[in-house]
Formats: sequence, structure tokens, C-alpha cells
Amino acid sequence: MEKKDLPIAVVDSGVGGISVLSELVKALPHEDFLYFGDSANAPYGTKTRAEVLEITRSNLQMLIQRGIKAFVLACNTATSAAARTLREEYPQLPIIGVEPAVKPAALLCENPTVLVMATALTLREEKFNSLVDRFAHRARVLPLPCTGLVEMIEAGTLEGKPLDDYLGALFAPHKKEKIDAVVLGCTHYPHVRGAIAAHFPLGTPILDGGEGTARQTKKRLAELSLLCERERVGRVEFLNSLGDESMLSLSRFLLERALENNQR
Ligand code: DGL
Repeated sequence: MEKKDLPIAVVDSGVGGISVLSELVKALPHEDFLYFGDSANAPYGTKTRAEVLEITRSNLQMLIQRGIKAFVLACNTATSAAARTLREEYPQLPIIGVEPAVKPAALLCENPTVLVMATALTLREEKFNSLVDRFAHRARVLPLPCTGLVEMIEAGTLEGKPLDDYLGALFAPHKKEKIDAVVLGCTHYPHVRGAIAAHFPLGTPILDGGEGTARQTKKRLAELSLLCERERVGRVEFLNSLGDESMLSLSRFLLERALENNQR
């Protein structure tokens, strides 16, 4: 098989990266995708940088064995902890990461206050802090670690009272602030975008990095002449490290829901 006909691997600590996968499928409809959800190791956000690097490296090695042409780290936490090192270790493989959409949020209006929801590890890492420094003159950035939210989404909790109570308590310290934009700095959170939006005034922009990652992936593949030239619609194969049918059916459900639900 020609290299350009191999699938693109998309990886996350669980079902979160499906929010990025849906953007990839829209941007690259003829490509095949191999989605690996590492639910057995979720959450990544409470682990150390070294642990997430080791887990991500071993997932990458497993996927290389299966045959892939690119590796999309559809996880802010793993991108912060592992992307740079893995690009050095695997220079032949395009490795595309995600980062919190701080830049588009900072450019939305004059000196906006931007709430960035992400995992504790993402917010601790140098990658995020230098991103915030770059836009410090343009925006006031409030980092908000959301420990526990990934676990709810992995359990399939996408709406309802327990989720609303959790979000109410999470946002309570910022209740009096005028928030101009909310950044979903973890790929799990777009799956509960509606529940999050309900806690802010109607029309508050809620941004994520999925579309930008899909654009970047397409650009990298084009530069490397690795875009497939097939006419047929591509396939999506799901793998999950927990290996149970319920995670695979949650994965398929979330992809269909994200593809149907195009409103932002
Ligand atoms: N989806 C991952 C991210 O974007 C979640 C991390 C976790 O497992 O805690 O950061």
C-alpha cells in the first residue's frame, strides 16, 4: 500500500479527541482515520508530564506498527507533555497537536477577559504559560483547571443535574466577572459545550481548537504530498484501550453527534 493511502491516527486519553476527529472528517472526507481512545489511562490531566510522555510514546509505537501516515495528538494535555519530544524522536512522521484557542479569543475584542478551561497539567505546562505571555498585552486570561470533568464525560454524562451542579460550582468563583470568551482547552469539553454555554450569557463565544487542528493537519499532509487521492468517502476505525463495547459505542455516538451538530 502506498504511504498516502494509510490512515491518519488520532489519539486522546479517551473519547475527548472525537471532537477533533469530527473536524478532521469534515476537512478531509476521503481520508481513513484510526481513532485510539486511551480510556484505560484517563485522565491524563492529573498525571505527571513524564507519565503522559511515556504513555503517549507507547501509544505512538503501537500505532506505527499498525501502519499510519500521520499522528494527530487530539489532546491538549498530551500535546503539552509529549509533542515536542516525540517530534524529535520520530522526525519522519508528521505529528500534529492541539493547543487552547487563546489567540482567537484574545483577538475577539479590545482587552477581553478570557476564561480558559483545561486540565491541571495543561495549565501547569510551559507551552500554555508561554502562549498566555504572548497575548498578555491583549487579553486577561483566567486559567480554570476542571479536575473531574473528563471523568464525567468518559462515563457518558453529557447533560443533566450532576453535570450542571459540577459546572455551577466550577464557575462560581467567576460569577461576578464579565467573561468575554470561554476557551475549551481540553478536547473532551466540546462534548458538553451546551451545558457549559448555559452558565454564560447568551452569545458568549465558546472556542475550541478542533477546526484549527484539522486545518493544520490538511496543510502538513499537502506539504508532504501525503493527501490520499481516492474518490471514495474515508473510513473511521475506533480502538479503545479499555477494549469494551460500551466505550466503542459511546465513541461512535459522539462522532455522529458532533458531525450532526455543526453549530458553534
Ligand atoms: N482530552 C484531553 C485534553 O485535551 C483530556 C486530558 C485528560 O485525560 O485529563 O487535555
